[in-house]
Amino acid sequence: MTKLTFIAFDGATFEVEAENGSTVMENAIRNGVPGIEAECGGACACATCHVYVDEEWTDVVGQPEAMEEDMLDFAYEVQPNSRLSCQIRVRDELDGLVVRVPERQA
Ligand code: FES
Repeated sequence: MTKLTFIAFDGATFEVEAENGSTVMENAIRNGVPGIEAECGGACACATCHVYVDEEWTDVVGQPEAMEEDMLDFAYEVQPNSRLSCQIRVRDELDGLVVRVPERQA
């Protein structure tokens, strides 16, 4: 299991144990993290699972692929550390990952 921390826009913190191979978005939904909508169910087609990856983790998480990059254009207040959480697969190296939820989606 890999530990993930979500920080909601109001500062509420959610620490969850995630299974490797699942996505960061799936774990947010499963644990009721507010602010993650994931309307398309993880198909990289809605941009409502937008998160900000903590600066200390951006290198480990990596950069979005082209399709995700295109979809991020539809997200609200995109920053250099923006990612779509359905496109981040949980793996051992992400143990301790911290992501923040934006004020709103799209
Ligand atoms: Fe729709 Fe991530 S859930 S793009």
